[in-house]
Amino acid sequence: MVNDRQAPQSDYAAVGGAPAIASVVDLFYQRVLADPQLVGYFASTDLTRLKRHQVQLVSQVMGGPVSYEGPELAAAHAGREITEQDFGRVVEHLITSLHAHEVRKDIIDRVVEALATTRDDVVTH
Ligand code: HEM
Repeated sequence: MVNDRQAPQSDYAAVGGAPAIASVVDLFYQRVLADPQLVGYFASTDLTRLKRHQVQLVSQVMGGPVSYEGPELAAAHAGREITEQDFGRVVEHLITSLHAHEVRKDIIDRVVEALATTRDDVVTH
């Protein structure tokens, strides 16, 4: 008998793969950079590189065939004096951007759970 079981679909595939995630990350940084409380942090940031790394990270978290190739998150955020409140705002902007792309709630919850584990590497103030 043929085995017709399907491998479970990754969250990455479920949301629409690379183009969908690139679009979510674009909206996410539009929102972050339009937020007066956050924009200052990014004053001297290479946004092309930042987006590329964030796309890799979100893709990896969603089980996609992509690996994060950026610096350790603790190193990327060291010395930036990021507060708990800023962290919460950034997470909110990501949630809003995922909602705007009609990403399923269970998938959003998993992404948020994964991001919550980065808190101690990001919040330094
Ligand atoms: C929600 C958790 C967060 C994750 C997963 C995350 C992830 C990342 C990643 C992947 C990079 C790219 C590193 C690089 O290309 O060098 C980055 C850079 C950066 N992040 Fe975050 N980040 C988070 C929260 C925050 C928060 C709350 C702030 C500030 C309010 C922030 C500010 C920055 C800045 C300013 C950079 C650019 C660093 C540079 O210019 O080299 N991040 N982050």
